[in-house]
Amino acid sequence: MPAIKQSACGKVILLGEHAVVYDQPALAMPVSSRRVKAWIEPRILAPSGQIWVKSPFLGLDQDSLSLPELHPVFQAIHLTLAELQVQQRPSCILHLSSDLPVSSGLGSSASIAVATIRSMSAFLGHSLDTESVNRIAFECEKLVHGQPSGIDNTIVSYEKPVFFHKDKPIEFVNPTASIYFVLADSKIRKSTKETVATLAENLKADFEQIMPKLEAIGGLALAGRDALTEGNLEKLAQAMKQNQSILKSLGLSCPELDSLTKTAMEAGALAAKLTGGGKGGHIVALVEEDKVSEVLLTLEEKHPQSNPFITKLEREDNNEG
Ligand code: PMV
Repeated sequence: MPAIKQSACGKVILLGEHAVVYDQPALAMPVSSRRVKAWIEPRILAPSGQIWVKSPFLGLDQDSLSLPELHPVFQAIHLTLAELQVQQRPSCILHLSSDLPVSSGLGSSASIAVATIRSMSAFLGHSLDTESVNRIAFECEKLVHGQPSGIDNTIVSYEKPVFFHKDKPIEFVNPTASIYFVLADSKIRKSTKETVATLAENLKADFEQIMPKLEAIGGLALAGRDALTEGNLEKLAQAMKQNQSILKSLGLSCPELDSLTKTAMEAGALAAKLTGGGKGGHIVALVEEDKVSEVLLTLEEKHPQSNPFITKLEREDNNEG
């Protein structure tokens, strides 16, 4: 058996995080420049059926069976073997590396699951199609996160911009203009499971106040989708700014995120907001092409730890203009 290499991208939610858990639509795109990479090598001399996991960024160097059952790597392996009805576990080493920071709003757990599912199925000689990879990754997300919407695994599996609505067919978005975003890291690590659970408690306690805010976010995601298909940056910027102020009013921002969004705006971004679970993690700033360097350099200068980088939403080739 030859060694197998596979990878999975990160994702950034442009509009609609959290509300998407409550049946509101959301808009998200892949971050193809930041990836989890999986590499599987056969281990002929190893004890039969031992899948060893080596991953410095996850702090793993052990037999996969010794991982906690709710670990995404344990579940990704287990569910892939079950899907392929494998009776005899293969003997191999699964190497996982990443330049996608974990717990930072960029979908790292979905990316770990997708890279593992892809590499394991390919190693077994039965590469799974994208929909099966997505379905298994969603099962992993459910076991690991509790109540995920499914947006992370969908974007990471398909690696395309998506207007996502839970339990509805996937709607891919065709942008009519190339659009630039700058991402920056607050370096605060918060578990999405916790921020989702806190919002669920708050919603239960104050449904009348909070539900309309979540519905308003859904409306902004809809406006954002139209803005992308129209190539209307101003409309997208308005939606992102309003989304950020609602997320902030829901207690999902933090001083570090506020400071990063402020810097991005002062440097010329059209809009800036938190992305993903919030209370930490990354911001995403919408930036016109000729302002990208200024925003990037200002963030680097004022927040040297924030590792800002550019991600571009490519205009669809079949679009005119
Ligand atoms: O923090 P991330 O990258 O896992 O994104 C979470 C997005 C949420 O909407 C907050 C949760 C979800 O399941 O959609």
